[in-house]
Amino acid sequence: MNQAEEFIVPDITVRKNAGLSHDADYTMPQPQDRYTKADHATWATLYARQVALLPGRACDEYLAGIAALQVSPERIPDFAELNRHLMAATGWQLVAVPGLIPGDVFFEHLAHRRFPVTWWIREPDNLDYLPEPDIFHDLFGHVPLLMDPVFADYVQAYGKGGVKADSLGGLDMLARLYWFTVEFGLINTPKGLRIYGAGILSSSSESHYSLESDSPNRLGFDLTRIMKTRYRYDSFQKTYFVIDSFEQLFKATEPDFAPLYAAIADKPEIPAGDILPGDTVLHRGTGEGWPDTEDA
Ligand code: PHE
Ligand code: FE
Repeated sequence: MNQAEEFIVPDITVRKNAGLSHDADYTMPQPQDRYTKADHATWATLYARQVALLPGRACDEYLAGIAALQVSPERIPDFAELNRHLMAATGWQLVAVPGLIPGDVFFEHLAHRRFPVTWWIREPDNLDYLPEPDIFHDLFGHVPLLMDPVFADYVQAYGKGGVKADSLGGLDMLARLYWFTVEFGLINTPKGLRIYGAGILSSSSESHYSLESDSPNRLGFDLTRIMKTRYRYDSFQKTYFVIDSFEQLFKATEPDFAPLYAAIADKPEIPAGDILPGDTVLHRGTGEGWPDTEDA
């Protein structure tokens, strides 16, 4: 999700949270008694479908993380149980939230190693795609990698960077970095290209598309380039950026962004599907099936 976008509470979030309340920091107890049999069945369906796809597609760190977390294949997981494993591994914690939360609140949580997870699950008539994050996206997609020490540090650093970017006019640029790494990132490994982005790992169709389709571009990671690149939130990505390691990602984003924001603020934005002369092109997309509507 793009935390820099205007904050509107989607209908489904209102409906799911009727009668529940959250604290000032948007956290709430995980409302276990709200989960129906159908909700647990939805979890089981999505889990089974996705887990079958992941060997050979998800990066090793993700696969190790999901195994170590002992995420239930059958039932919506209990956050308290997962937190025991997470806390022991990297000191992160999940906190239940009603849905999308304001960007500043989100950044504060990440900066304190708390990952906000939407407590409710999508409905059976909408198993494949929903515009707002639910527990399957937030938990299945994001949480396993928080078991990896380097990635865990990256996400915390991102949160601290978000708190800071607000006053520097850097929120849009920072949001694009999140989008092209945490949500839609690919990683080069000795065994081949793998997925680490949560938006891909929680989508069966994009798990295939991002790695196997000839349509999208796959370009080498480039921090300032990414910060100016527009994206899609209504379709598969036109371009994926590929890192070589989580260490590379962490190191590249470690320097102070204040001078960087100032230096590139006035540079033009790059359309989602463009390839530029300086790009490291791992795959030039055919562009087949790309939507012709405006990029975000
Ligand atoms: N180094 C960035 C800054 O100074 C913070 C950051 C780290 C942002 C990691 C994103 C990811 O603002
Ligand atoms: Fe997400």
